[in-house]
Amino acid sequence: MTTLSSAALSAQHIWDHCEELARCSEQPGALTRIFLSKEQAAASQLALHWMREAGMQARIDAIGNVVGRYEGDKPGLPCLMLGSHLDTVRDAGKYDGPLGVVSAIECVRVLNAAGRRLPFAIEVVGFSDEEGVRFGATLLGSRAVAGTFDPAALAAKDRAGISMREALDNAGFDANALSAAARKREEILAYAELHIEQGPVLEAEGLAVGTVTAINGFSRRRVIITGFAGHAGTVPMRLRQDALTAAAECVLAVERIGRGEPDLVATVGRIEAFPGAINVIPGEVRFTLDIRAPRDELRLAAVAQITAEITRLCKARGLAVAFETLQDNPVAASAPWMMAQMDAATAAEGLPQFRLPSGAGHDGMAIADIADIVMLFVRCEKGISHNPAERVTLADVDAGARVLLRFIENFKRPA
Ligand code: HGY
Ligand code: MN
Ligand code: MN
Repeated sequence: MTTLSSAALSAQHIWDHCEELARCSEQPGALTRIFLSKEQAAASQLALHWMREAGMQARIDAIGNVVGRYEGDKPGLPCLMLGSHLDTVRDAGKYDGPLGVVSAIECVRVLNAAGRRLPFAIEVVGFSDEEGVRFGATLLGSRAVAGTFDPAALAAKDRAGISMREALDNAGFDANALSAAARKREEILAYAELHIEQGPVLEAEGLAVGTVTAINGFSRRRVIITGFAGHAGTVPMRLRQDALTAAAECVLAVERIGRGEPDLVATVGRIEAFPGAINVIPGEVRFTLDIRAPRDELRLAAVAQITAEITRLCKARGLAVAFETLQDNPVAASAPWMMAQMDAATAAEGLPQFRLPSGAGHDGMAIADIADIVMLFVRCEKGISHNPAERVTLADVDAGARVLLRFIENFKRPA
């Protein structure tokens, strides 16, 4: 079946919508949009409006996901779910998340404008928290959709000491009713997500798009090292229980272990010393661990090795250490039948077929619990992401949307 409607697709529309979403930020001149913030509420209203303009019924679900539905050739059919996330990291780029949401909306707009109704419904979801910036635990919106949201996360607190439970209630949601966002497996035929690659491979290959084979698994921990706060002027070096110098040794150990395996990455993204005064020996340090690998046994072995080394280093200094598990996500593999259809859509749009893994985490990791998944990566300049220098070209945005549209129009779940 040829695509009748890709000619009407507008990459400029997608580009402009990413620009408009980027203005929904908690800080002027930079992009930060976190879960349950007023900036996220503004971005959700934009997405709702664009979804309705594209011919969808649109709503905000129990955890703040924006959900648009475009009926098939009969009402009430199971859906091909598309989407990505609308939240961002701090000082983010404009495309990590939003590009996938607005590209999917544009595909539906084009189908609707052409009066096309397919033998399945299409749903586009703008997930409310994929990055986990505010509370540490990630994939909150997509886990709620998959019915795997962990209620223990409701007790997690943000930088201001506000719990997720309070933040949900303050934003007009009911923390006790999140299960209303959960979808049944039979409602969803499959899930496909367009996303920037956030890595350098497509650019190195000279390609605009690639089909993702799997999303690497990741483990997130918070480490709390407890020493003893003291006067920086009076406590001799040999008598100190300095939590920050211990943490410094631990951070270098994380790097050393991460470097020990080519497929492994290990990051300390955030560290805080308390009480945080210039003339006080830090009595407590908290830092985060983000450990990822394309094989779960490699990741779990690295988590064990890093935990043991941190424990050994702290014990040698006479300091206590505790570990909080924020999240463990296994590798999420793309379904072979969906990769084949994404490859075919790529070829049908005159583009070379290419497959690559994802080092970054994505909502598909959560949705994989209730549906088969595939992702389509779009090249980004120098692979830069989680950085305001994140860039795409209009031509690649166009290529990504055309492939996604072709994938949608030719989508067929095997019997
Ligand atoms: O952290 C990640 O991999 C994703 O960008 N949330
Ligand atoms: Mn993302
Ligand atoms: Mn991200």
